[in-house]
Amino acid sequence: MVSTLIILTLAILSFLGNIHRQVGAADCSQLHATKCLAKLPNPTSTPVVVYDGDDAIYVFGGARSYLPYPSVYSNEILKYAISTDTIKLVAHLPLGLFLGTVTADGLGNYFYFGDAYSLGDSNYVFKFDSNTNWITPVAQIPYIFQYNLHMEQDFRPSDPISSAFGFWDKSKEKAYLFGLGNAHANRPYDHVGYYVRPDHAQIEHFNIPNDDLEYSAVSNDERNGFIVGGLKRTDSLFWYQLQTGDGKYCPVSGLPGKVDQFLGGTGIALVPKLKRVYVFGGASRNLTTGLGSTYDGIWYIDVDM
Ligand SMILES: *[C@@H]1O[C@H](CO)[C@@H](O)[C@H](O)[C@H]1NC(C)=O
Repeated sequence: MVSTLIILTLAILSFLGNIHRQVGAADCSQLHATKCLAKLPNPTSTPVVVYDGDDAIYVFGGARSYLPYPSVYSNEILKYAISTDTIKLVAHLPLGLFLGTVTADGLGNYFYFGDAYSLGDSNYVFKFDSNTNWITPVAQIPYIFQYNLHMEQDFRPSDPISSAFGFWDKSKEKAYLFGLGNAHANRPYDHVGYYVRPDHAQIEHFNIPNDDLEYSAVSNDERNGFIVGGLKRTDSLFWYQLQTGDGKYCPVSGLPGKVDQFLGGTGIALVPKLKRVYVFGGASRNLTTGLGSTYDGIWYIDVDM
């Protein structure tokens, strides 16, 4: 089963000329992030966050750069319960990990691929069974990858990677790939559409800006995609409508990101039934002073637009 969960280490690219158009009828100018009562046990950046489709959001690993090695990367798997706004530790990964990627099989199993641990790169795939909270190493991948994304299809691009992000439209079986691209390649980077049937990828130009400064967090359903943190517009999220191809920034109050304060390293999960985006942790730095903070906060943003 894992062999069919092929990792995409796409190197994709933005398209410099493709500045997003300010389109879309919905008013996204009033978004607010509400802070939850629950908190992460420690301030954490770049946690990998996955919604289970029901009432739980799982939070895997992440970085705690204010701690000494080897504690700098978290090995915790946390379960946030949406209805009760509570969080608890449910398991420990064998290694403290960050920048990996997680995919789920819909049966309660989550597969964490990669990425970095305190002494180097991890090429392990760990299976977390949320029914038993057991963790099993299930594979070792023959190459190293970071900032990757996953898809439950067999696709391996030929380009080397820098940091790729993507939306996956289950109903169309289409992936929207974008990100920082290969730092060694020349700009402009392209956006790539990947299609399962027939299995091919092609250059496309999404209304998603070439604005990534750092690791961004993305989440989507078949209609709406969101990017929170890591973007040049430090006080906003980016909203992409998969059905129409419209994309725009929406200012968000209540998050640490401000005009002069960059927010990155968040983990996010869209909860479609509530039309909410949950934001976990992250780190900010003042763009004038360079001073930074890492957060233990959990926020939600109602995005019923
Ligand atoms: C960033 O630093 C500047 C200079 O010290 C300060 O005026 C500003 O309020 C800081 N911004 C935030 C969001 O703390």
